[in-house]
Amino acid sequence: MNWLILTAPFLLLTSFGTAWADEPGDPKAGQAVFAPCKACHSLDAGKNGVGPSLHGLFGRTSGTAPNYNYSPAMKSANVVWGDDTLFKYLADPKVFVPGDKMAFPGVKDEQKRRDVIAYLKQASQ
Ligand code: HEC
Repeated sequence: MNWLILTAPFLLLTSFGTAWADEPGDPKAGQAVFAPCKACHSLDAGKNGVGPSLHGLFGRTSGTAPNYNYSPAMKSANVVWGDDTLFKYLADPKVFVPGDKMAFPGVKDEQKRRDVIAYLKQASQ
């Protein structure tokens, strides 16, 4: 009983604190998480498919890959892609950018999301 009373506030605090930075992703593991993304996304510059090329993704503003026909929602989302924004978007794309046309439910597992972002950080350069 005492244990619960003492630890409950601590557990609450820690679960609010985990956005991105606390645990680093593993780019090696992230390569496998990226496998389904490859059906729609290339990492080569200028190579758009069903989805836009993810080349140069980090620091890029949403909806700005050249020659890709984005949804109006993504064009006006005005998000700069980085660790935090990708972590939120990939959790549930249609919640983060309502009207987004990416036909993909996202990556629900937090560690897998960190891993795929760590992979993208390297592979999208
Ligand atoms: C079924 C195809 C499909 C799959 C699978 C898919 N995407 Fe997408 N993705 C899209 C489309 C289409 C868009 C453009 C959305 C829009 O314009 O509303 C997009 C947009 C994006 C964007 C925004 C890019 C920009 O230039 O603003 C990111 C980042 C992204 N996807 C990452 C991923 C990742 C990471 C995965 C795998 C975990 C993934 N996507 C899986 C189709 C897909």
